[in-house]
Amino acid sequence: MNGDPTDGPADETGSASSTDTPGHRVSAGLTIGSRVVVRYRLGEGAEAGATDFLGELIARNNDFLVVDTKTERVKLIRADVIAAKDVPPPASRPGHAHERISADDLEKLMAKGWQALDRGGLGDWLLRASEGFTGRANSALVVGDPSLPLDRALDFVEKWYSDRGRPPVFQVHGARGFTAEEHPVAAALLERGYAVGGGRDDWQRVLIMTGLSAAVPPLTEESVPVTADAELKLDWLMAYGEQRTIVPGATEAVLTGSDGQLFLSVRDPESNRIIALARMAIHPGWAGIFGLWVHPEHRREGLGTTLVSAVAMVARENTMPAIYLQVSADNADGVAFWEDLGFSVHHEYTYLTRPSA
Ligand SMILES: CC(C)(COP(=O)(O)OP(=O)(O)OC[C@H]1O[C@@H](n2cnc3c(N)ncnc32)[C@H](O)[C@@H]1OP(=O)(O)O)[C@@H](O)C(=O)NCCC(=O)NCCS
Repeated sequence: MNGDPTDGPADETGSASSTDTPGHRVSAGLTIGSRVVVRYRLGEGAEAGATDFLGELIARNNDFLVVDTKTERVKLIRADVIAAKDVPPPASRPGHAHERISADDLEKLMAKGWQALDRGGLGDWLLRASEGFTGRANSALVVGDPSLPLDRALDFVEKWYSDRGRPPVFQVHGARGFTAEEHPVAAALLERGYAVGGGRDDWQRVLIMTGLSAAVPPLTEESVPVTADAELKLDWLMAYGEQRTIVPGATEAVLTGSDGQLFLSVRDPESNRIIALARMAIHPGWAGIFGLWVHPEHRREGLGTTLVSAVAMVARENTMPAIYLQVSADNADGVAFWEDLGFSVHHEYTYLTRPSA
């Protein structure tokens, strides 16, 4: 295995951009909307020399960082910031590292692992468009409060997509087995004539599965060699294109749009062709696995497991105890593969579209 993750959680000292918007990366490792911890120098006369502020980074410019802590909003003078870094989302329920996160927080994290080209916000909702490349990058992520009454929020989203010449698609999530009728936003969409999946089988139910990087079997001396590149290379992209439709420009932008990612591959030793691949997204405390694929002629030879073992090794070495992935519920082989590696369902989501879309 060669290659290292780049742009992992990092101290932040760079200058700010005046165009910071929610969800956009603003400099190495620090993102508006992220949970951050800021070590801050206290003024003269203070008993302690420095203190830490933990909360959501909501704004920044050349002079200040603004952080919403649990109890207050603090405006921190940049010159007195000793260090700042992203930290994982908080624990919201008991369990291991991959179970404690709330579904809302995991959805927001996964959106950063698959960043859309064009992003907008409506309260907590995230609006995404990427020239049609993947459902996730072309749908409104319904999470938290849209900051408008529901009917007006739905109108706003429909207009946002219509302004871009794209059909509105909503991604809603819930506990395993939830129905659209019992989800308030999905129910309102059904009333507007939307349908679950909009006629696409693979959009009916997507499972979010999570597991511990420490529980994945390690690479062994017998494991086939895995290459990990921080850069997206043409032959990786071509092999990726064997399993799904590429939208030139949009695909590359989404694949390389996270704060940190690695492109892993296994090659056939004789032809040197890529026969198995995966993309790893890098987050504070979490790794994401996207696009895991093994050439049909090489399935059940352990290559899929080897790629996940390689991701887990990088994760363990970089303080990422938890791993997430998304798999269509109708992909029985894929689900069986992840269960065999100790992953379990965290929650699930579905898409709602107008049937004509
Ligand atoms: C899912 C996939 C990546 C598995 O890759 P693979 O290299 O064949 O998997 P492995 O050989 O490492 O399998 C490890 C174990 O997973 C389970 N497994 C893998 N494929 C399975 C299948 N088709 N049916 C049932 N169990 C399966 C088995 O327990 C297997 O161990 P075994 O072969 O000793 O019985 C591959 O089938 C694939 O590329 N599918 C299409 C893309 C996809 O579905 N990706 C995953 C969605 S995120």
